[in-house]
Amino acid sequence: KQVAVITVDGPSGSGKGTICQLLAKELGWHLLDSGALYRLTALAARHHGVELDDVEALEVLAAHLDVQFKASDNGKGVQIVLEGEEVTHAIRNERVGEDASVIAALGPVREALLNRQRDFAGAPGLVADGRDMGTVVFPSAELKIYLDASAEERAQRRYKQLISKEPGASLDDILNDIKARDARDMNRAVAPLKPAPDAVRLDTTTMTIDEVLQAVLDEARHRG
Ligand code: C5P
Repeated sequence: KQVAVITVDGPSGSGKGTICQLLAKELGWHLLDSGALYRLTALAARHHGVELDDVEALEVLAAHLDVQFKASDNGKGVQIVLEGEEVTHAIRNERVGEDASVIAALGPVREALLNRQRDFAGAPGLVADGRDMGTVVFPSAELKIYLDASAEERAQRRYKQLISKEPGASLDDILNDIKARDARDMNRAVAPLKPAPDAVRLDTTTMTIDEVLQAVLDEARHRG
């Protein structure tokens, strides 16, 4: 029998990451943070001096990513190790996110990461977080969620996360970055960000994290 999969897609700042972590914990399921794989490929490219338009070299990097996801001791999420180096925080940097979204537009890179993503599926189930989880990677998932929120609200959320670390952060800059990232993710030719036709769409603009989590759990119970 096929493993149960819940896919959660949506734009940057829609709350996917947080919701997927909570959901996986609540259900006791595996978690795939697919964005991390694109970020890791981007970081590996930087480490190896590979240009972001060198499609062949990027494809090779993606296909051979030497990465480990380790459960961390404090029970808080996972530790990510790339080529022996801890990069858990390094991959969250804005520039790495930008680079990731540039290389994510390349078909051969996406293709190279496809099986690696599907390998995360395991009993009792998988929560898959990304842009094309419901449309491309797990098209027969039992439950597909598409999370959205206004660009302004997503920028606010990002700003609140960032301001303690970067006191000079500008809300305007963040909003512009979010809009640019949306445009790139939604308008690319390969696996663009869009809701699967059978996705349950949730606008989280005025919802709390707990409300979103409960809404997704309700959907999961309906199908269970
Ligand atoms: O979700 P996160 O911000 O970590 O993803 C970084 C970038 O990777 C996204 O902006 C997107 O371009 C790309 N991505 C993707 N497909 C996924 C996950 C992420 O194209 N399934």
